[in-house]
Amino acid sequence: MKVSVIGTGYVGLVTGVCLAEIGNEVICVDKIKEKIDMLKNGQCPIYEPGLETIIKNNIKRGRLKFSHKIEEGVKQSEIIFISVGTPSLPNGQADLSFVEQVAKEIGKSIDSYKIIVNKSTVPIGSGDWVSMMISESMETGNNKKVSFDVVSNPEFLREGSAIEDTFFPDRIVIGSSSKKAITIMIELYKPLLEQDFEWPDSKRLVPEVQKVPLVVTDLTSAEMIKYASNSFLATKISFINEIANICEKVGANVTAVAEGMGLDKRIGRLFLNAGIGWGGSCFPKDVAALTYIANEYGMTPQMLNAAISVNKEQKLKIIKKVQDELKIVKGKTIAVLGIAFKPDTDDVRDAPSISIMNGLSNLGAKIKTYDPIVKNKPDSLTDRVKICKDAYEAIDGADILILATEWRQFADLDFDKIKKTMNHNIIIDGRNFFNKEKLQDMGFRYIGIGR
Ligand code: UDX
Repeated sequence: MKVSVIGTGYVGLVTGVCLAEIGNEVICVDKIKEKIDMLKNGQCPIYEPGLETIIKNNIKRGRLKFSHKIEEGVKQSEIIFISVGTPSLPNGQADLSFVEQVAKEIGKSIDSYKIIVNKSTVPIGSGDWVSMMISESMETGNNKKVSFDVVSNPEFLREGSAIEDTFFPDRIVIGSSSKKAITIMIELYKPLLEQDFEWPDSKRLVPEVQKVPLVVTDLTSAEMIKYASNSFLATKISFINEIANICEKVGANVTAVAEGMGLDKRIGRLFLNAGIGWGGSCFPKDVAALTYIANEYGMTPQMLNAAISVNKEQKLKIIKKVQDELKIVKGKTIAVLGIAFKPDTDDVRDAPSISIMNGLSNLGAKIKTYDPIVKNKPDSLTDRVKICKDAYEAIDGADILILATEWRQFADLDFDKIKKTMNHNIIIDGRNFFNKEKLQDMGFRYIGIGR
């Protein structure tokens, strides 16, 4: 089928490329010309493991094209995905200005029946609003009134495993009141629903997957599934972080607690890893947006507010731990391993590492940091932080080492060497990632989260 994807960010680019991989003709559109030029050369503007290979393969097959003109994408496609950013405004409300711009552009370009798919996480009820935008811009553009349908098709991709999550989704959700649109979307997703496609490097990650469940519902419920799923996952993490904080007081081990809890099928082990909290481009934004929506209706979302406040405090707990260990933080040298909000991504949005480094820097500490992928200092990170070329340079002379992002490379660090170069052998493991017993046997003072 002929598809265009408008917005080539973490969601749009992966969606477009994977739809090309399963046989569709796809045009990815972005307003940033430099990005489009990079993509035309087969270069990937974001770090997502495995994506560049699939981009190159599908450019070669002639199934994947790039343009910075929305009109080109709209006129050549029957299905148009809107996957532009919906960042948070200061009051938590989702900023829909990018979606609005795109919807108006689509309205001006639309020349025959189209399905407009909301892939961006949009506030509840936005599907109808997008319809209104498109219709209005059709009229003002003296465009003859052609029929179209808007569909909500929320994404559940995790950065760092977005390709697997696209090819092997737990479910596909389609929200629409149009039977015609639903039928066409089911046709588009058939290879994924049937799990009937050649997995790019011929090894299937989940061979036992036979069929992917399909959820067909109305627009609003589909949008709510996205918000409720992300908010639940964020709440689950804040829950185990609260349990970790109690574990620290009573001397329990939160890793053992999570294991014991997770064996209950109703709970599940995933997303029960205590640490310095959740960040990224989705959880903070989606929980804030859902909270804002509840407030708009005069409700106080107590669970969501609690998840947010536990998370905020969890990042500051690390600073408290540093103060407990060093007493005087001013003038001390602190090494922070990891900047990205989680491993296998270059995304630094709302990364706990950044608020921790900024906080410690404000207390007068000298911060050195290293991340395997994030090489340039994020705008949100204070200039006083030194970005080092490797972990050892960051750790050299440090009074304390904080692990902020559990990049697998950090598991292979040479701690014998580290012990010789640190001023004090104190390690705060912000992700309960290191082997506590091994480090203690080597003479390090190990501080974890809830263990
Ligand atoms: C999330 C959702 O998982 C995904 O379904 C949605 O489409 C987008 O948002 P993502 O933000 O990429 O994906 O990362 P995720 O792996 O969910 O982690 C989010 C945050 O939670 C990270 O900061 C991570 O460090 C933290 N986390 C995750 C924990 O602190 N503990 C856990 O057990 C799991």
